[in-house]
Amino acid sequence: LLVTAALCLFGYLLGGIPTAYLVAKRKHIDLREKGSGNLGATNTSRTLGFRYGVTVGVLDLLKGVVPSLFALDFFSLPAVSLLCIGMATILGHVFSPYLPSQRGGKGVATGAGVIAVLFPSAIPVGLVVFFSVAIGTRYVSLASITTYVVLIPYYLIRSHIQGQPIEYARLVFLCLLSLLILFTHRTNVNRLIHHSEPKFSYSADKEH
Ligand code: G3P
Repeated sequence: LLVTAALCLFGYLLGGIPTAYLVAKRKHIDLREKGSGNLGATNTSRTLGFRYGVTVGVLDLLKGVVPSLFALDFFSLPAVSLLCIGMATILGHVFSPYLPSQRGGKGVATGAGVIAVLFPSAIPVGLVVFFSVAIGTRYVSLASITTYVVLIPYYLIRSHIQGQPIEYARLVFLCLLSLLILFTHRTNVNRLIHHSEPKFSYSADKEH
């Protein structure tokens, strides 16, 4: 239990590092005041250019990968512990302890890093759903929400086909993660309903 608690704290503190904020700050920009105000890859790309967005996306993804992979590889912890560490990392990213408002990102990239370690078989499905919706609609928020929600039926169907019992801890984790993603995207959902959500458009590095 002590190892799990220590790794949860490590995940929370690592996940909380506001990479988007720091990358934008290097260019003397407060990302919280630009575009959607979100500290994530999409808003970084929107504000600073695609290359910066990809950099932030990769760093945020790695924040999700590291604690979970460490817990899995070094300590072979049980599934419940791994799921708690993964969730703590994502919560650190969303409610960053280093920012005064505690407002971090929306949990998409960091969540993807955690999923990649704890549900590796979901990677192809996640990628296909995300990029189909993102390219088809050009709404990154809609692609993010859809991908996380789809993971729930995917897990149930996969378990059924493989004749494996459903692990309720995993199911609860996926449901909580979807709810968290819906919560962090609540303003996007509102804008999508009112047709005012901005569509993604590629932009090269922007000068500020
Ligand atoms: O990366 C989060 C994405 O799903 C939405 O970001 O900036 O358009 O609210 P944003």
